Amino acid sequence: MTGSTQVPYLLRAARGETLDRPPVWMMRQAGRYMKAYRDLREKYPSFRDRSEIPEVAIEISLQPWKAFRPDGVILFSDIVTPLPGLGIDMDIAEGKGPIIADPIRTEAQINALRPLEPEASLPFIKPILQALRAEVGNQSTVLGFVGAPWTLAAYAVEGKGSKTYSIIKHMAFSNPVVLHQLLSKLADAIAVYARYQIDCGAQVVQMFDSWAGHLSPQDYDTFALPYQQQVFRQIKATHPDTPLILLVSESAGLLERMAQSGADILTIDWTVDMADARARLGKDIIVQGNLDPGVLFGSKEFIRDRILDTIRKAGNRKHILNLGHGILPNTPEENAAFFFEIGKQADQLLAVHA
Ligand code: CP3
Repeated sequence: MTGSTQVPYLLRAARGETLDRPPVWMMRQAGRYMKAYRDLREKYPSFRDRSEIPEVAIEISLQPWKAFRPDGVILFSDIVTPLPGLGIDMDIAEGKGPIIADPIRTEAQINALRPLEPEASLPFIKPILQALRAEVGNQSTVLGFVGAPWTLAAYAVEGKGSKTYSIIKHMAFSNPVVLHQLLSKLADAIAVYARYQIDCGAQVVQMFDSWAGHLSPQDYDTFALPYQQQVFRQIKATHPDTPLILLVSESAGLLERMAQSGADILTIDWTVDMADARARLGKDIIVQGNLDPGVLFGSKEFIRDRILDTIRKAGNRKHILNLGHGILPNTPEENAAFFFEIGKQADQLLAVHA
């Protein structure tokens, strides 16, 4: 148990300390699998209202905190939230995700994008992050997050999520100069936004390059990695002590490249065995995640064994226990609760089940 005056577990692990157990939190831990969230969604049917009215976003962010006491509390928001501040209007449609009515496809549109002024265009961020810090104190770590340039560009150019990314790949492979302009502008804006989150109270920031795993490695090196580096370099220049996490989905073929991004921590999905990831990345890097979110549909014994297996394969150190991606909407809440319980008892359980 973390005492009230100590640095919280997740922040200590994120700074590279070796602890008796891994800190535990979950991506999308606030969301549809929780009844409390679904009830509030009926009152506030618009995602933008839920994430941009401070009282509502604070309440949602704290729902998992109150239910499970995770070691990390993540801001309830979305990766596309800063886009309107650049002049890219968006909405988030139920069950579909972000929709951009007027996608960015020309140089003129890119030239017309505004630099991000977070205080003016994202006025809800400061009260939300301040309230989360005040609520959890030193008992948990408050995480902020941003989308990465490639992934936000994919939404801006495609206008919505895609299975093939045909429109942005068309641009990438026939008019790369224009796409590079967009990626660089997005990188600058994302760095400004991440720094602002840190100034408002975020203690760790995770960057989601969710769709970069759809790029071949050589195209990842051209369109994703340099802009991840641009963001992380700019954040580190002013906030060198804030740990930074990178997530790329379906990243088994990209791990070594992700390690060049400048992130302190890499999220590993379940397309690679954690032991292989550890062997490929070395023992010193901090890794997070790796469990298939579907594991939480299994029995308690199955869930426990998979968690312990992952912790062992990560080397029982420099590891943050998490799923490899967001928790799935129909997950039983009691299985989510069990995930956190096992994480918090991992030191005793590993000794017993050695
Ligand atoms: O982790 C958390 O608890 C913080 C909240 C969070 C949300 N979106 C809330 C949300 C985070 C970290 C995100 C990031 C995000 N948003 C990503 C990166 C993570 C990933 O999934 O790879 C992406 C790609 C998006 C874009 C997005 N927003 C999609 C694809 C969707 C639809 C997803 C779905 O399953 O329907 C959204 C909407 C969204 N953002 C939901 C939540 C809880 C679900 C809609 C709802 O609750 O009404």
